[in-house]
Amino acid sequence: MIAELILFIVALCSLGYFWLKRTYSFFEKFGIEHDKPTLILGSNKDTLLQKANLVDHVETQYKSFNSNIVGIFDMVNPVFLLRSPELIRQVAIKDFDHFINRRPSFDASNGGLFGISLLHMQSQKWKDMRATLSPSYTGSKMRGMFELMKTNSEQAVNYMKSKLNEKETEIELKDLFSRYANDVIASTAFGLKINSFEGDNEFFKMGQVVTSFTTFETLKFFLISNFQTMSKYLCLKLFPKEQTDYFMRLVLDAMKQRKSQNIVRPDLINTLMEVKESGKWTDEEIVAQCFIFFFAGFDTVTLTLCCAAYEIMRDQDVQEKLRSEINEVVEFLDGSPLTYEALSKLKYLDAVLQETLRIWPQAPQVDRVCTKPTIIVDPYTGKTINLSVGDAVSIPIVGLQRDPKYFPEPMKFDPERFNDDNKKSIDSNTYMPFGIGPRMCIGMRFAQLEIKTILFYFLKEFKFERCSKSTVPLVLDPSTIQPEPKEGFWVKVLEC
Ligand code: HEM
Ligand SMILES: *[C@@H]1O[C@H](CO)[C@@H](O)[C@H](O)[C@H]1NC(C)=O
Repeated sequence: MIAELILFIVALCSLGYFWLKRTYSFFEKFGIEHDKPTLILGSNKDTLLQKANLVDHVETQYKSFNSNIVGIFDMVNPVFLLRSPELIRQVAIKDFDHFINRRPSFDASNGGLFGISLLHMQSQKWKDMRATLSPSYTGSKMRGMFELMKTNSEQAVNYMKSKLNEKETEIELKDLFSRYANDVIASTAFGLKINSFEGDNEFFKMGQVVTSFTTFETLKFFLISNFQTMSKYLCLKLFPKEQTDYFMRLVLDAMKQRKSQNIVRPDLINTLMEVKESGKWTDEEIVAQCFIFFFAGFDTVTLTLCCAAYEIMRDQDVQEKLRSEINEVVEFLDGSPLTYEALSKLKYLDAVLQETLRIWPQAPQVDRVCTKPTIIVDPYTGKTINLSVGDAVSIPIVGLQRDPKYFPEPMKFDPERFNDDNKKSIDSNTYMPFGIGPRMCIGMRFAQLEIKTILFYFLKEFKFERCSKSTVPLVLDPSTIQPEPKEGFWVKVLEC
């Protein structure tokens, strides 16, 4: 019995060994430069062992190579890393039809609502849903949502004022801005009026559960995305059923209520009610599209706001210039409320936001999977690579955005890079904080509006200054995958 057990274990180990050996020699047949992987962890050793923040890791990895097409391993999955704007353009734009999907990591069985959201939908299904949702993120719909964002911004300003009245001037911004982001999601995606500045409500708590990733959850996330078959056998699920049920009920009840009372509001639920009528999608598929705001639009917006505030706290000249641009608009408005048009005229504000996203992109990399055989060509050496269906490619956004070849003195925060004259010379395939091509962020305009609205309201009332708890320079926490410092984003806030 013991002998058989030992034999079995030995057989299993050698099987694993040969499988890994084959996996890790994937790039040999292509004859390209590639990373030397660590057993099981692949090229992700530093992020998985919490030695490097994902943003820093992707940048370091980008810099560690010379060729334009190189090989890396996302744990045990080989990925072609594209290091030139021409190659990125080919894959994400020109040959988009050959690279429609991201790497399949989550689906209904392991990712619940997350798995069937637009982020993870595949091929034709994705095309249909993207086309269905796109109108809700443009033009007139955006104006309606802007009105809601203004109310949410006013709530944040009032909260800040009450803090200052209580002589509390040192503020942690992630907490502050996440409450704003939460209220915006509640009002624009779920049709709820809440004020998270007046204490934690149920919606806020549920949102916290689904977005805050502990070490255990990060590990689970990596396991599910990289060992799909195994995690299915182990029944690993990203979220507890309780949260999923909560959001399902919330959206479906709201729809019922609106239908019976003929309520029309300028939000996503309204669009999705029309989608529901068509009968093409399941209830889960519809609710999942509201849920995505938490994954794609909560931390991204919160941390972009934090990074922007950090930069303008550090550079008082930028802050003054920004405030004087804002004050001009305030004068022009002459007491009437902020309009969509007035906000879109703020060019310096736009430049500050773009420069923030250049240095601190919330998604340091994006990937695509080859869905039809394609030949990619290195524009400099002429080397060609035949990609087969299933091969994965990665676009190292932060690598390009911090490459001195494209952005001289990359770590210098300089909004003038995006002024009218200079921005013309930026190659759009080197700057892509919202991704690139038909599969880029659907919420881009929404996010920009949300961020600009609260910055407008805040900068006209408050000054940001450095305090003893501020982390300068910004050192990213190696134990998370998001661009944030361990200590949080502390600033001193003063009334203007
Ligand atoms: C500063 C804020 C944000 C940043 C930096 C950001 C960035 C990104 C990036 C890089 C991608 C991947 C694009 C690609 O693969 O080429 C993406 C996808 C996506 N984002 Fe955002 N995002 C932000 C806010 C939002 C918001 C507020 C929403 C809310 C609706 C949103 C919804 C989505 C969705 C649904 C996708 C998947 C699109 C698809 O696969 O068709 N994002 N985002
Ligand atoms: C790549 O594909 C082209 C065209 O189909 C073919 O001629 C070539 O032999 C292929 N190269 C390799 C290395 O398979």
